[in-house]
Parts: sequence; C-alpha cells; structure tokens
Amino acid sequence: MPQTTIDARHLTKRYTDGQAQLLAVHDISLHASAGESIAIMGPSGCGKSTLLRMIGLSMKPPPAPCSCRDARHRKTTRTVPHGATACSASSRRTTRSLEDEPAWVNVAIPVEYANPRIGRAERRQRATAALEQVGLAGKARRMPRQLSGGEQQRIAIARATVMHPAIIIADEPTAALDTHTADTIMTTLLAQCKQGTTLILATHDPRVAAQCDTTLTMRDGAFL
Ligand SMILES: Nc1ncnc2c1ncn2[C@@H]1O[C@H](COP(=O)(O)OP(=O)(O)O)[C@@H](O)[C@H]1O
Ligand SMILES: [Mg+2]
Repeated sequence: MPQTTIDARHLTKRYTDGQAQLLAVHDISLHASAGESIAIMGPSGCGKSTLLRMIGLSMKPPPAPCSCRDARHRKTTRTVPHGATACSASSRRTTRSLEDEPAWVNVAIPVEYANPRIGRAERRQRATAALEQVGLAGKARRMPRQLSGGEQQRIAIARATVMHPAIIIADEPTAALDTHTADTIMTTLLAQCKQGTTLILATHDPRVAAQCDTTLTMRDGAFL
C-alpha cells in the first residue's frame, strides 16, 4: 500500500476582522498517499488557498491534528499532534524569486537549503535538469525580469520540483496561462507523481482537474 503523506483531520480556520468572523475552512479532513494527485476546485473565496496553506503548514497551527509524512525520507518525518511545523525541508514551498539572480540560481535554491555542502556545479546541473523539464533550459541565465509571466511560472515549477519533494502544494499553478504552457506545467507536476510525489493543487480549470486522480470540490469552506 502506498505510504500516507498527508493526514489532515478536522482542519478549521476562522479569520477575524474586527468584530466579524469568517469561517474560511470548516472541519476539513484530507488524506493523501505517495504518488497521488488531488485537485481542489470551487468558486473564488471558498477557502482553497487557506486550506492549502494549512496543509503546507505555512499558516498558524490549526487546533486539530495535521501531519505530513515524507515517505522517502522517513527519518526526517514527524507526526505532530497539534499541527506544528512537520514537513521536512524537501516538501516546503518556495515562492518568491530572487530578482537579481538568474533563473538557474532561483531554481537551485531548494538544493542549497536541503544540503549546503552541494557545490555550485552540481546545483547548476540539477537546476538545468529541472529547467529542461519545463522547456526552459535555454533561458537558465536570464534574470526573472527578462522572462514572461508564463516563463516565470515555469521557473517556479522547476524550483518546486528540483529536489523531487514528497509533497507539492500548488495554488492555481496554471492560472492565466495559455493552454500549451498549462499543459507543460501539468506534465511536469504529474511526472513527479509518477516518482512518488503527492500533488495537491487548487484550480479553476476543469482540464487541469481532469488530469488528477481525484477532484474535491469546495463550497463555503467545506468539501461538497
Ligand atoms: N488573511 C485573511 N484575512 C481575512 N480574511 C481572509 C484572509 N485570507 C482569506 N480570507 C477570506 O477567507 C475566504 C477564503 O479565502 P481563500 O482561502 O483565499 O479562498 P480561495 O482560495 O478559494 O479563493 C474568503 O472569503 C477570503 O476573503
Ligand atoms: Mg485562492
């Protein structure tokens, strides 16, 4: 049986704005295994991004159990009873780009985080391999500002996949992209799943969701 990589139970998130309270995520449980791909759909404001941030543990600990297991690096795996940071570095998301560094340096950031002893030549080689996957090997030396929005998005995907993480969480990874670029991104992400990565993404695009193993639809902070 595939290893469990995500076991989130009874996640709830309230935003407080003055006196008003908004229940953005209400009692959601989600289980995922190595190699599984899950699409989360639903109208804008239904809580997709909030849920992804909770699963990625980049938001304040939820009051309920949430664990992320790194199936392939079991020694770095912890199950945390109250949602404190549990993911290993390899399953962390890196979002912002370094504006004054070329594309390949941006892609190589997770390599350095994972193992600072990996030298520049190997970092560059791994980054180039990830850039090839998204069709951007020829633009490795470009600065982010010299790339189009779609290319920057592909750089972000290369950076997310360069360490072949146990879990990839992608919030609308193909938003505002043409069909061809969206397909390249989905092909890259799903290739990671074939190697055992768990993919959870939020999307408005039914074509993207159809390529995932499972589609979950949200309304008003809960799955339908
Ligand atoms: N930091 C925040 N503070 C207050 N309300 C927020 C915050 N982030 C999101 N919300 C609200 O929570 C609800 C869910 O937002 P979000 O998770 O971004 O939904 P989605 O990603 O599905 O569009 C929305 O009503 C949104 O306005
Ligand atoms: Mg969102």
